[in-house]
Amino acid sequence: MAGLAQIREFSMPVLSNQGPLFFLILFGTSAALLLLRKVLNRGANKRLESCLEKPKVDSSVVVVPTINPLEEFRWENEQQHKIRAFKPIYHITMAVRSDTPSDLITIDCEYLNRLRLRRELLQSENDTVHGCTPMGEDSVQELYTYLMTDYLPSRYPTMFKLSFDRSMFFNLVTGESHPITSPSDPKAALKILGTTVEEDLFLLKNTPDGHQCVAFVCCFPSGWNPSAKLGAHMTKIHTTVPSYEKIGPSIERFFSRLQVGKGVKRSNWTVQTHDKLFNVKGNHIRPGEEAEEEDIEVDKTFVRVELQTLTRMPKTQAVLFSFKTYLYPIQEIKAEGLGAEFADAIEGLQKGNAPGMWRYKGAIRWGKSVCDYLRA
Ligand SMILES: *[C@@H]1O[C@H](CO)[C@@H](O)[C@H](O)[C@H]1NC(C)=O
Ligand SMILES: *[C@@H]1O[C@H](CO)[C@@H](O)[C@H](O)[C@H]1NC(C)=O
Repeated sequence: MAGLAQIREFSMPVLSNQGPLFFLILFGTSAALLLLRKVLNRGANKRLESCLEKPKVDSSVVVVPTINPLEEFRWENEQQHKIRAFKPIYHITMAVRSDTPSDLITIDCEYLNRLRLRRELLQSENDTVHGCTPMGEDSVQELYTYLMTDYLPSRYPTMFKLSFDRSMFFNLVTGESHPITSPSDPKAALKILGTTVEEDLFLLKNTPDGHQCVAFVCCFPSGWNPSAKLGAHMTKIHTTVPSYEKIGPSIERFFSRLQVGKGVKRSNWTVQTHDKLFNVKGNHIRPGEEAEEEDIEVDKTFVRVELQTLTRMPKTQAVLFSFKTYLYPIQEIKAEGLGAEFADAIEGLQKGNAPGMWRYKGAIRWGKSVCDYLRA
């Protein structure tokens, strides 16, 4: 069944501008899936009948997804993932692929450095980097309990442990300990989460006006103020994103249908000409703002990639949107021989269904210099 779920989520047609080949593949896959589903359903019915005598499952019992432990994990030795998802033409899509519950949180050798920075930011930036509305309190508690008692000690047993009586959570890397019961102040809970993992976390709840951001801890925003998203609905959250209207409705539908245990991942990228992870303005160019071509300092120019996940929380049904941020020096991209490919991707920002992305991502400023460097 896992294989089936994977194919289905991967081929979800969020946008219809992928060209005829995509549709052929999609059509082929859908037909195959229909057949498969029929066969599987038959099997499922049989199984159902043979299970009739068994006691009914209590529907209030929440099934926690199983997590595969990384028994030998050494965070210091873990290299950062190199995400190189460049396409020659930029189309705005959700382009999600299915993700296993085990892969929710990624840890690597930058862990301790990133955590130190996050602790400072949570102190100095306070409400800018974490907050919760009354509607979000139960979901913050649920997320806290899930990460601290289920996910982290199961996935990374060499880093996180529970005390024998399961009342305390120990972070063996930082030496910190926390009660496993969520603090009653949601901001305190978010602060603990924000200094235990380096993923930025947003919780969204469905409302008659669409999904609304009800809580967040976000230390690494890429040119926007995270606190401005608190209490906002999806359209307002993305108000400055060009062509967002093309994917807005599918995103809402997608969020509504997201199933527990069947999370998804996607990534996006931009270029920045500084090394800051915390950036509440800059990176993007707003409508009306002036911008000109600029020279770049090669050793201060990075590809910034967000590895994003979407997960449904089982009890409160909130959607967790999380992302991990990577900064790759453009020198590294070029050294890998991907210079020309990435330059094409930069120019491709203007060529797809969201040409405003070129300006929005700031390519007006750095585009030419970066492409010249990458191709030289
Ligand atoms: C953060 O701001 C809140 C008010 O929103 C205040 O009560 C709290 O003391 C501040 N925390 C820090 C560490 O400055
Ligand atoms: C990724 O996309 C979101 C929204 O579309 C945007 O706010 C964010 O800045 C993007 N991140 C990067 C690294 O481009």
